Amino acid sequence: MQKILVVDDSKLNRELLCELLKDEYEIEMAGDGNQALQKLEEYWQEIHALLLDLIMPGMNGFAVIKRMKENEWMRDIPVLIISSEFGVEVENQCFELGVSDFIHRPFDQSIVKNRIRNAVELFLCKRQLEKKVKEQEATLEKQYQIIQRQAEKLREAKPFNTLMTEYRSAIMEVETRLNVLNAEFSQEYNRNPFESIKSRLKSPESISEKLERKGYPFTVESIREHLTDVAGVRVICSFPDDIYRLAELFTEQGDIHLVRRKDYIRYPKSNGYRSLHLILSVPIFLSREVKYMNVEVQFRTIAMDFWASLEHKLKYKKDVDNADEIVGQLKACADSIEQLDYQMQEIRDKIDLSRV
Ligand code: GTP
Ligand code: MG
Repeated sequence: MQKILVVDDSKLNRELLCELLKDEYEIEMAGDGNQALQKLEEYWQEIHALLLDLIMPGMNGFAVIKRMKENEWMRDIPVLIISSEFGVEVENQCFELGVSDFIHRPFDQSIVKNRIRNAVELFLCKRQLEKKVKEQEATLEKQYQIIQRQAEKLREAKPFNTLMTEYRSAIMEVETRLNVLNAEFSQEYNRNPFESIKSRLKSPESISEKLERKGYPFTVESIREHLTDVAGVRVICSFPDDIYRLAELFTEQGDIHLVRRKDYIRYPKSNGYRSLHLILSVPIFLSREVKYMNVEVQFRTIAMDFWASLEHKLKYKKDVDNADEIVGQLKACADSIEQLDYQMQEIRDKIDLSRV
């Protein structure tokens, strides 16, 4: 049941209104302004309408309205004046102060009931709407904050994406130069120095994992400075001597700088791994500048590549049965591959010589 506060100095008037409304509402009563304010202070949120007499001893109706305005209760509680005061001025004054209705005494009971019901319902709707708006505002605020956080992340990611584009461009540069060499070789000597190229850009996860492992911060500068294998190009050749010839031709290009060279073919790793690794500083030609990017270029034969991919599987697989045995077998295979690669090269040389 909704609660209505009836404020009137006349006991008779209060009881009349109470009798009229008690079936529909829970009635609270106050005999003057002060009492009314006390009750409002205590539980204004529970009150759904205030029926207010204007002329009362002590604090009159106007003073009550003023205090209600100060406390911002008028926004939530409809105030209906019930008075025998007549005069447009008084009535207007009340409306200007924000009252919802002005009921003249003597009144018709059914009309009063209807006017009270209307006012109560209107304010209920208003309260519900305001509650909804507040909820929506909170949701919007949350969404705004999420969007802001995402935008911040994106802003942070933009330099990272730019860097990745630069590394991708460096890969393209290396691939193009290799393809040019291949085209020239096939024209001049009727053979290709490499069989295929595989390129890859290190994933953000691998980049962050490697920086973390090495104790460097996850920043664009740090990636540039500390990682040399973000851009990776693998060149698969048929014969070992093609590897050295290609690597030499490549590093001889005036604008490519050799940063590091690891020759695991001449000096194989203990597990049998054989490849030639070059870290090259490669220029990329941007609209406003030329930038140098590190690219890791691995050269290996078809057989070495076949071996490395199988061995790689072992490295990333945990709890492999007979791991020691497999390591031994792989080492033996690597040695066989070396023999095989050089034997094939010899055969190729013999064929080439016999052609002359
Ligand atoms: P990473 O930090 O692992 O990149 O090694 P690194 O900085 O010491 O450089 P290194 O030139 O030794 O190796 C570079 C890359 O060559 C590796 O990331 C692998 O892709 C490959 N590689 C090196 N050693 C082996 C090996 O024993 N087996 C296989 N399958 N691949 C290898
Ligand atoms: Mg690496």
